[in-house]
Amino acid sequence: MSYYALVPAAGSGSRMGALSGRAMPKQYLPLAGKPLIWHALSTLCATPSIAAVFVVLAPDDVAWPEEAMAELGSRLHVMRCGGETRAQSVTNGLRGMVSELGAIDDDWVLVHDAARPCLEVAMIERLIAEVGDDDAGGLLAVPVADTLKSCDEHGRVRQTVPRDGLWQAQTPQMFRHRLLLDALDFAPQVTDEASAIESLGLMPKLVAADISNLKVTFPQDLKLAEWILRSREAAGKEPGNG
Ligand code: CTP
Ligand code: MG
Repeated sequence: MSYYALVPAAGSGSRMGALSGRAMPKQYLPLAGKPLIWHALSTLCATPSIAAVFVVLAPDDVAWPEEAMAELGSRLHVMRCGGETRAQSVTNGLRGMVSELGAIDDDWVLVHDAARPCLEVAMIERLIAEVGDDDAGGLLAVPVADTLKSCDEHGRVRQTVPRDGLWQAQTPQMFRHRLLLDALDFAPQVTDEASAIESLGLMPKLVAADISNLKVTFPQDLKLAEWILRSREAAGKEPGNG
């Protein structure tokens, strides 16, 4: 039984670019002295349980920083098969893995957003341990802490939504390779892998993480991520090591 990481990185970062005025896809913006995507890849490559890390780039990507990535070693594999949507990039990546590795039906794939740079080795190991051999797989997530409001088209509160039992999904999300590919074929419109698995009637396990594993979406997220990574560095933690 092997564990692989698959990192979709074929997005354009439109929400970041529109606000910051930067044309560079967000995964390549500078963060704590490295390209943003380097951080998650470095952590995944440093995780003992993970046999290999596959990153999915857009076919026309010209910004992949070859030199900075070379130091991550031979466990990192680059695939230029990104699609129109995140789900399509993941699907193409899952197929690309078969071309490189052969049949991996029952092996586990941990899908992780390139845009979550503050992932830690300890979080990954906890996810793997808690999911165990549960065929429904699982994902890192945090219980919703704030009071939730739904709003009307004028930005006014329509109602307060009970937050009991609500979680925010993060990544990594881990599933068996064949099951995930079948689920994404069945439900290609999803915004995360767990939704595809749910559409098959399975119930992935929620594994509690924390908000430091944030997704960089807007310019202010970049500042927060920088602060988290720099504080860990100052506290003497190895990068990516919980
Ligand atoms: N992603 C991808 N292929 C796409 C769209 C997104 O591989 N066609 C990846 C992104 O590169 C990112 C992850 O999926 O690592 C999460 O997506 P998101 O945060 O939405 O990134 P973007 O789509 O790039 O940003 P935006 O939605 O603001 O354009
Ligand atoms: Mg997107």
